[in-house]
Amino acid sequence: MGQEIKLLDIKNLVKVFTIGSGFVKSRITAVDNVSFDLESGRSEIFTLAGESGSGKTTLARIILGFIEPTSGKILYKGKNITEIKGRKEEMWFMREVQPIFQNPFETFNPLKKVDSYLYETVVNYGIANKREDINSAIDEALNLVGISFQEIQGRYPHEFSGGQLQRISIARALITKPSLLIADEPVSMVDASLKMSICNLFKDLKEKQKVNVIYITHDLATSYYVSDRIAIMFRGTIVEIGPVEKILIDPKHPYTKILRDSVPEPDPEKRWKEKIKLSSFEEREFLSIGCKFADRCPYVMDICKKEAPNDIILDGVTVKCHLYSS
Ligand SMILES: Nc1ncnc2c1ncn2[C@@H]1O[C@H](COP(=O)(O)OP(=O)(O)OP(=O)(O)O)[C@@H](O)[C@H]1O
Ligand SMILES: [Mg+2]
Repeated sequence: MGQEIKLLDIKNLVKVFTIGSGFVKSRITAVDNVSFDLESGRSEIFTLAGESGSGKTTLARIILGFIEPTSGKILYKGKNITEIKGRKEEMWFMREVQPIFQNPFETFNPLKKVDSYLYETVVNYGIANKREDINSAIDEALNLVGISFQEIQGRYPHEFSGGQLQRISIARALITKPSLLIADEPVSMVDASLKMSICNLFKDLKEKQKVNVIYITHDLATSYYVSDRIAIMFRGTIVEIGPVEKILIDPKHPYTKILRDSVPEPDPEKRWKEKIKLSSFEEREFLSIGCKFADRCPYVMDICKKEAPNDIILDGVTVKCHLYSS
């Protein structure tokens, strides 16, 4: 029996950055042996969460094809994305997988009217070339995010609020009818009052347009609300992955517990960064033996300092922790 082709299939992905030069080089393993997949034929919102520096953006940039992995495989609809060659294949991939950035003001050129930016997206991706068809492609994408063409016509980015502009940048991404959006902290710069409306938009797109979303966030509350599954990253590794309710209501990994309990209302990011100590580069590389969380874990055991934990499947959740090894 043949295996079903996944929408996204990531296997043992590693990204090592070398910084500095000459004798003072150091290596940072930003993504360390990450594997997960998204099924095809259904749509889901998949959260990547973890403290600052845990490798979320690096992973997103690899999936988008912006940077190459050091090792490992990444297949999109069965195609190895590091082997994509030629204009036609590149265009196909860029239409299929679209980024949504944190700061919508950086997505748009401040000197360009928003409608002309959308116009260029339609033309550059070869979606349409007649004025009438171009306008209807723009209109269709804007309708999906609840904005009309009239609202944006002739206006510049600074004439919109962050929330409105993020909606327009989502519309821009939808022009190519992608199957996967990669949204790196898409609501962190949006007013608290508008965050939920953007999150609801992702939910709506998932349900009605069958769009998949990889949602990167520090905000576990929105993640709980919108996503189907969540992966918790710590120092480049996924320490726990599974259905969002299971993981956030009853976390198994000690790190997930700390992360969950440090999620506060109403200012998630601030408290998060306060409570969780950031690791230095030296510390990261030094702790390559054993569990990466051993030095901060309240339940640390001898074995944790000697052996890296393997994935253990427990009640539909996959967790890397010696507490659960038999
Ligand atoms: N281009 C680069 N060169 C060298 N090191 C890098 C580079 N990009 C990222 N890193 C390092 O890789 C690690 C992971 O960074 P990354 O930006 O992926 O984390 P993150 O989880 O997105 O953090 P944040 O929540 O702050 O956005 C960090 O230690 C970072 O300093
Ligand atoms: Mg990041």
